[in-house]
Amino acid sequence: MTQQTFSIIKPDAVERNLVGKIIGRFEEEGLNVVALEMRHLARHEAEGFYAEHKARPFFGELCDFMTRSPVCLMALEGPDAVAKNRKIMGATNPANADAGTIRKLFAKSVGENSVHGSDSPEAAAREISYFFRGISVYPKKK
Ligand code: CMP
Repeated sequence: MTQQTFSIIKPDAVERNLVGKIIGRFEEEGLNVVALEMRHLARHEAEGFYAEHKARPFFGELCDFMTRSPVCLMALEGPDAVAKNRKIMGATNPANADAGTIRKLFAKSVGENSVHGSDSPEAAAREISYFFRGISVYPKKK
């Protein structure tokens, strides 16, 4: 089933010029980029995006990191995009990520873990609309 998911290439990866490699990997595996923007997140944008983690001890550190330098925001589309993206990314903590996944290859730590991906179709819809207006998303013509 064709689906959309939301992806962020995080500051640690953008700073190391890994944008092209990461997008290339998504495209090679059948995930099409249907919306894309480079943005230096404002504090309120990072806090709103990660609101579900507000009570966690790492929330402040997470928002500091996500506002440190620009990120690459994307909507990706393809068959089972949510699960496929999570498989390509690997586990949140790179120490637990499978060989060949983006986080195993590039992540520095559980905090600086190079990419974010939606964990469900409902989260994907919420996250895409948090950052993109509908008219900024370009589904592939069948
Ligand atoms: P992400 O998929 O973007 O969603 C929430 C983020 O919180 C997660 O990736 C991690 O980068 C971050 N995170 C999770 N656990 C920790 C932790 N123990 N310390 C710092 N950051 C964390």
